[in-house]
Amino acid sequence: MSAGTHSFRTTRMGPAAMSTSDTTPTTPWIAIAEAARHVGAEVELRGWLAHRRSSGKVQFLVVRDGTGLMQCVAGRGDLAPEDWEALEALGQESALIVRGSLRADARAPGGVEMGLRAATVVARAEGFPITPKEHGTEFLMDHRHLWLRSPRQAALLRLRAEVIAAFRDHMNAEGFVLVDAPIFTPNACEGTTTLFEVAYFDERAFLSQSGQLYMEAAAMALGKVYCFGPAFRAEKSKTRRHLIEFWMMEPEWAFATLDDVIALEERLLVATVARVLDRCGEELKRVERDTTRLASVRAPFPRMRYDDAVELLNQQGTPFAWGGDFGAPDETALSERHDRPLFVTHYPVGVKAFYTEPDPEDPRVCLSCDCLAPEGYGEIIGGGQRMASLEALTQRIDEHGLPQQAFEWYKDLRRYGTVPHAGFGIGVERTLSWIAGLDHVRESIPFPRMLYRLRP
Ligand code: 4AD
Ligand code: MG
Repeated sequence: MSAGTHSFRTTRMGPAAMSTSDTTPTTPWIAIAEAARHVGAEVELRGWLAHRRSSGKVQFLVVRDGTGLMQCVAGRGDLAPEDWEALEALGQESALIVRGSLRADARAPGGVEMGLRAATVVARAEGFPITPKEHGTEFLMDHRHLWLRSPRQAALLRLRAEVIAAFRDHMNAEGFVLVDAPIFTPNACEGTTTLFEVAYFDERAFLSQSGQLYMEAAAMALGKVYCFGPAFRAEKSKTRRHLIEFWMMEPEWAFATLDDVIALEERLLVATVARVLDRCGEELKRVERDTTRLASVRAPFPRMRYDDAVELLNQQGTPFAWGGDFGAPDETALSERHDRPLFVTHYPVGVKAFYTEPDPEDPRVCLSCDCLAPEGYGEIIGGGQRMASLEALTQRIDEHGLPQQAFEWYKDLRRYGTVPHAGFGIGVERTLSWIAGLDHVRESIPFPRMLYRLRP
C-alpha cells in the first residue's frame, strides 16, 4: 500500500466523514513531513494520537505518523456528533485516520495545521504507560518498545539510519566492496576475555567480536572491502560507552599503511558529520544538539603519538604509567582539548590485539590508531596496520596464548602473497552518541543489550 492516491474507508466512519469521502474520493494520504507542500489542499493522515485537549467547543488533536507531528483542530460543527464524541474519549496512542484541509499556521508544530473534517478511529488505546510527565530511565528502558514512539527516540532512530547510510555510501564511493563476515566464529579476534560462547552442534563457537580477520582474507581477494554488522562482547563493564551487542563497520585495505587508513577515517568522519548536518536538521533540533560543535569537524584532525599523550596526561595532573591502555577519563582528558576528533597513534604493543604490526622504527610500539571523538566522547574508531610476516604472526599468537591451529587459515593469508594491509572498525553507537550529543550509549540503538539489560 503506498501513500498517494489510496483512500482509506472503514464502516466506522461517521456520516460527515462518509459524505466528505464521497465528494472527494481521492483525498491523498500524505506523510506529515510533506505537509508544507500541500497547504490549501484536503489530505488524509494516518497515525496515532500524541496529545489531545478540548475546550468543549474546540478540540485540538496532535497526531504523529512517524514522520512528524500535526495539530488538527475541529470545532463542534466541523464533525459529525458521533465523531466528535469518539475523539473526546480517545486515549493517547489510539490509532486514527484524519482528513481535513491544511493551512499555514506559524504557531503549529511544523508550521502547518489541519482543519479537521473527518476522523476514523482504527484502534483505541487506554492507559499508554509513557505520558508527557517525567519517567525514570529504568521505567523507560523496560518500555523501550513503546518509548521508541516518543519524538526524541524516533529522531534518534532516524539519525542512526542516516549515520549508517553515510558510512556505507562513503565506502562504496571510495571503491570498497561490501563483504559480509560470519557471526558464528571458531576463534577470538579481540582477546579471549569477552567471548560469548554458544553451542554449535558438537562443537563450541563464539559470537563474532569483529569481522576483521575475515575482511583481511577478503581484502586479498578484492583489494578494498568492508563489512557492516553486529559485534558481541561479554564486557563486564557498566559504563556510558559499553554495549554487549553493537554495530560496527570494518574497512580493510590491501597494500595500505597506517597513514592511509588514518586519512580514510578522516574523510569518512568529515563526510558523515557533513551529511547529518545537511539532512537531519530537524532531528538534531529534536535531540537538542548544539550543532555549532559539529560544524567545526573539518580536516585536518589533530594527531598525537601515545608517548606524547602519556606525557600530556602526566603534565596536566592525571598520572598515567606508560604501557597501560587509556581508560574513559584519560580519553576524555585528551579529546576534550580539541573541537574535532583526535587521532592517537603508536600504542604499546601490549595494549593492542595480536595481529597489530609493530613499528619497524620502534618495536615497543605498534602501527595502531584510535580515533577519539571531541567533547569527551572517547574512542569511536580502533584500527591500524596488520602484521604481514608469517614468522612474526606465529610468534605473536604464541605470546598471546592463542591456539596456532585455530589461526592456520588466517596464517595462510601470510603464506600466499602477503602484503602490508590496514583497516579499522568504527562503532555506530559511539559515533551516533557523539553526533547526537547523548549522555549514554543506550539511546543510540533501538534495543540495547547491556550488562544488566536483555529485555525487551
Ligand atoms: O577497538 P575495537 O575493539 O577494534 C576492533 O574490533 C578491530 N578488530 C577493528 C578493526 O580494526 N577492524 O572496536 C572498534 C570500535 C570501537 O572504537 C568502538 O567504536 C566500538 O567498536 N566498540 C564498542 N561500541 C560499543 N560497545 C562496546 N562494548 C564496544 N567495543 C568496541
Ligand atoms: Mg579499541
